Amino acid sequence: MNIGFLQFAPTRLDPARNLSLIQSAIAGSTFDMLVLPELANAGYLFEDYEELEMASEPADGNGIFLSGLITLAAEWHTCIVCGFAEKAPEGIYNSAVAVTEDGVLALYRKVHLFHTEKDFFLPGNLGFPVFEFQSTCLGMMICFDWVFPEAARTLALQGAQIICHPANLILPYCQAAMVTRSLENAVFSITANRTGSEATSHQSLHFTGNSQIIGPKGEKLDSASEAETCLKIVAVNPEQAHDKFFTPRNNLFIDRRPDAYSL
Ligand code: ACM
Repeated sequence: MNIGFLQFAPTRLDPARNLSLIQSAIAGSTFDMLVLPELANAGYLFEDYEELEMASEPADGNGIFLSGLITLAAEWHTCIVCGFAEKAPEGIYNSAVAVTEDGVLALYRKVHLFHTEKDFFLPGNLGFPVFEFQSTCLGMMICFDWVFPEAARTLALQGAQIICHPANLILPYCQAAMVTRSLENAVFSITANRTGSEATSHQSLHFTGNSQIIGPKGEKLDSASEAETCLKIVAVNPEQAHDKFFTPRNNLFIDRRPDAYSL
C-alpha cells in the first residue's frame, strides 16, 4: 500500500485556494492513501467566530472544500484524510474526514483541543472511530491528541493498522513522541503537519513542518524538512501492524494489565 502525506501551508480563510493548492501538489503522483494537515480548508487562527464560521463547512461532503476533495479522491482512486473546520448545527468542530470516490467514509472530531482552540471549537464527541480502506483498518487523531497516549492506544486496540494524524504543530515535541506512539502500539503513523506562519491582530504563530511517516517498530520511513512544501509517499505492508509481539514472550496487547491501571 502506498501511503504518505502532503505538507504545505494552507491559506487562512480560503478553502477554494487551499483545494487548488492540494490539486496541483498531488498532480502526477500515485498513492493509495494520503494525509493532509489539520484545518486545511480554513487555516488555524481566527480574528473572531464569524471568520471561522465563514471558512467552515458541513461534513456531508457537499461543501466547496470536501466536494473538491471527494472529486480528487475519485480521480486518483484513493483515500484522502484531511483536517477541516466542520460546521455543525450546534457549533464548529476541529475535524478530520476520510474521503474516497464514494464520499465521506469516516469523520473524527478533535477530542483534545489545544490552547485557544477552546475559544472557537466544540470538543469532539465521536470518540476515536476506525474505518476500513483496501482491507486495511485506519484511524484518525488530530495534532495535540498526540500528548494523550490514550488516543493512539484506543485506535490501536480497535485494530487500526495506520494512524492518520493531521497536524498544525507549533511545539517541537510531537515528532519524537509519535515514534513512541507507533512503537508502543506497533502501528504505522503519518503525521501531516503544515508549514508557514499565520497572524491575526492578537496572535501570531509559526508552524514547524517536519511531517513524518513512522513504522510499527518506531522506524522513520520518510520525513519532510521544516519549511518545504512536499508530497512523500512510501510503500508499506500494513499487515506488519498485526504483529504485536515485542519479544517472543511479550505481546503489547496481551501483556497489558488493565487491572493494575484502574484509578
Ligand atoms: C495543535 O493541536 N494544533 C497544536
